[in-house]
Amino acid sequence: MPCPFVGSMNQAFVRNYGGALMKQYGNFCPIISRGFRSLGVDETKCPFIQNNPIISDAPKEMTEDIKEAPAYKYENFFNDQINAKKKDYSYRVFRKVSRLAADGAYPQALEGAENRRVTVWCANDYLGASRHPVVKDAAISAIKSYGTGAGGTRNIAGNSQMTEKLEYELAKLHKKPAALIFSSCFVANDATLSTLAKILPGCIVYSDAGNHASMIQGIRNSRAQKHIFRHNDPSHLKELLAASPEGVPKLVVFETVHSMSGAICPLEEMCNIAHEYGALTFVDEVHAVGLYGKHGAGIGEERGIEDHIDIVSGTLGKAFGNVGGYIAGSSLLIDTVRSLAPGFIFTTALPPPVLAGSLAAIRLLASEEGRSLRAKHQAIVRYLKLSLLIAGLPQLPSVSHIVPVPITGADKVALVAESLMRRGHYVQAINYPTVARGEERLRFAPGPYHTTEMIDSLITALIESFHENNISFNEFMKNGACRECSMEYKVDIGYQEPLKYPKIAA
Ligand SMILES: Cc1ncc(COP(=O)(O)O)c(C=O)c1O
Repeated sequence: MPCPFVGSMNQAFVRNYGGALMKQYGNFCPIISRGFRSLGVDETKCPFIQNNPIISDAPKEMTEDIKEAPAYKYENFFNDQINAKKKDYSYRVFRKVSRLAADGAYPQALEGAENRRVTVWCANDYLGASRHPVVKDAAISAIKSYGTGAGGTRNIAGNSQMTEKLEYELAKLHKKPAALIFSSCFVANDATLSTLAKILPGCIVYSDAGNHASMIQGIRNSRAQKHIFRHNDPSHLKELLAASPEGVPKLVVFETVHSMSGAICPLEEMCNIAHEYGALTFVDEVHAVGLYGKHGAGIGEERGIEDHIDIVSGTLGKAFGNVGGYIAGSSLLIDTVRSLAPGFIFTTALPPPVLAGSLAAIRLLASEEGRSLRAKHQAIVRYLKLSLLIAGLPQLPSVSHIVPVPITGADKVALVAESLMRRGHYVQAINYPTVARGEERLRFAPGPYHTTEMIDSLITALIESFHENNISFNEFMKNGACRECSMEYKVDIGYQEPLKYPKIAA
């Protein structure tokens, strides 16, 4: 067998410069680069070189002077990193769940190698938009006309009528003059915050302690001065802003619906405080878009205060059932980010099926059908919260559609998730770094296609799984308060606004 390394090179070059070649390009050879001697291999007996008619005949001095490189033990380093993750139970093994899209099959999935049917409780495809016929048809039809890929960055062949139509639709949804789409909302948050906080002279950032990693990363990348205020605490924000210098650009950054607790921020109060001190508000509505407000624009719309938000960020990957992220705001601000943010400029644009699918989903969720889906969504969420309460199972006091069931300990929460899976219910165990250590949980996100029968079956499975793993129902809650953090155990069985919507059909 000829040497694949040497064999791929120009043979005349190899013949003439074999020795120099070994010295200069040996690093590219998987065997030479690791050092013959450190591997216990005698280079003159390298099976490839020996069998290569050119090199095996080469004079000995060609290979003789190869030095053993003092290589860093990369693999050992990676092995230590992984072992540390395994030791503290934060090592992740992804579940193979193929979520089904057909009517009657959703929200079920085929799980594992055996393709076992399970009910999915933790997808962020909150309203089933990813499998809605209108959304699927739009994506399929876009592929037929325009193919699967955008073909380039926005500047180089990746911009189309549909790209701009989607941005127009998003701007309209949020009642802003302009919008800009990104590969994901992680990128949107990171690129926007890092760019704005870097270019605004002397900018100071005020960041909520509960902020998502994408915003934290953007703020860090900007290297701007930052202050962290207590999660959803307007008085702390005010205290920090009051101590800040006047006339300096400031950004106040927070989420409306918190992704892991389901808390909803006091939006109006926080925006008013930010504006009182001359700051711009950057508000992540990722877990609210599609889900709240008459047209699904989020908590800002639900509360009639969209104009309080200067820059809104959202995702196309959750309630809108596709992938991608965006910001919306003033025309000049959007143009500035478009012109200066590397995370926007140097990457392939969103592809035609995603653009078409997202457009269809946004329009669907802004329509009467969207309102009906939202009403069913809130009703089934209330049913789950109530069922947990009646069963005496713990739940964190969420006021939104996210229902967290706390099970302290990464090992314990994983065991309960495993027990549930055996019973046909898939909910992902949430642990560090998604939540802090000690705040592990199961995070349920029921949707309008989950039935009350599915929830009844889930509750039975939860009770059995708690028992199976010797987890007391009261382990987390004691005397009406959380043992760990003294948080009052008060279950809000539903976000109040949508109570006016009709009850879910039996
Ligand atoms: C609050 C929040 N912001 C931003 C993102 C990033 O959104 P995307 O999934 O579109 O990257 C997430 C993702 O989970 C999130 O929870």
